[in-house]
Amino acid sequence: MADQTLKGKVAIVTGAGRGMGKAMSLAFVAAGARVAMNEVDADVLAEAANEAKAIGGNDAVLPLAADLTKEETAERLVADTIAQFGGLHIVVNNAGIGPETIRADHFINPVKFWEMDISHWRRGIAVNGTAQFLMALASVKHMTAQGWGRIINVTTSLDTMLRPGFSIYGPGKAANEAFVAIMAQELEGTGVTANVLIPGGPVNTRMFPPIGNIKREELIQPDVMAVPIVWLASDASAGWTGRRFIAGFWDATIPPEEAAAKASNPAAWPQLGGNAIMPKSAS
Ligand SMILES: NC(=O)c1ccc[n+]([C@@H]2O[C@H](COP(=O)([O-])OP(=O)(O)OC[C@H]3O[C@@H](n4cnc5c(N)ncnc54)[C@H](O)[C@@H]3O)[C@@H](O)[C@H]2O)c1
Repeated sequence: MADQTLKGKVAIVTGAGRGMGKAMSLAFVAAGARVAMNEVDADVLAEAANEAKAIGGNDAVLPLAADLTKEETAERLVADTIAQFGGLHIVVNNAGIGPETIRADHFINPVKFWEMDISHWRRGIAVNGTAQFLMALASVKHMTAQGWGRIINVTTSLDTMLRPGFSIYGPGKAANEAFVAIMAQELEGTGVTANVLIPGGPVNTRMFPPIGNIKREELIQPDVMAVPIVWLASDASAGWTGRRFIAGFWDATIPPEEAAAKASNPAAWPQLGGNAIMPKSAS
């Protein structure tokens, strides 16, 4: 059994039925946490939850099939988690959708924005940019009242936010990333931190469909998230907030604080900020 770093902690992971959400859920239960696994696809969720139960035991896992695009979902996930486990400490906003939900071969044949309609745009913004706000809103009062919380959003590489063919993805992810930077500042001193964790490149999941001769085993594998997510969710990451961590750069052979420093930068693009022309009287 892995070390029980997260014993006593309760986490919600969204999009936990497959890919990186499943990998992070399995890492959490292996580290002693109890996990509410949210997923829109009930069948894959049932399978993933069984895998998690095999590691952490039946009492460590709460499968919650629900669609995050429905605005009432976030409050229900938080309420059901607290009712079942008696607390909530960690929210991992992992669910996301990309152009693969419009066209399977989009890497070869990119989806131009004029091939989308308003329903694609709304769904992209809802899953990639609004669900994270609603989850934070539903859980923040509980976290600040207990003086401890971890909000970790999975966004994407900064260039992917601007990539042609990714209008369903990049704009929502950019909003999500900016929101983390704002949350971190507003939560300063509360004991609740907000950070971004990304893999660092294309990952061997459903989101990255088979393309040409690209070998799946050469892609980043979903469990790259396991070590950094457990550290970010733990007491050890206290004080680390407003950062974007790249899991692919995490060096598990060095002490975690050093690995965290090497694998992270400030979230979003603060180096581009401070450019606004402000009235002198505002200073
Ligand atoms: N795969 C990559 O190359 C890559 C790279 C960088 C970042 N990411 C991000 O990592 C996260 C996980 O992606 P993945 O690669 O594991 O993808 P994935 O498609 O394997 O898993 C995402 C999961 O989210 C679920 N989901 C989608 N919409 C939902 C909704 N409305 N409500 C609840 N669940 C919903 C899906 O059903 C799916 O199980 C995403 O946010 C993605 O944007 C992925």
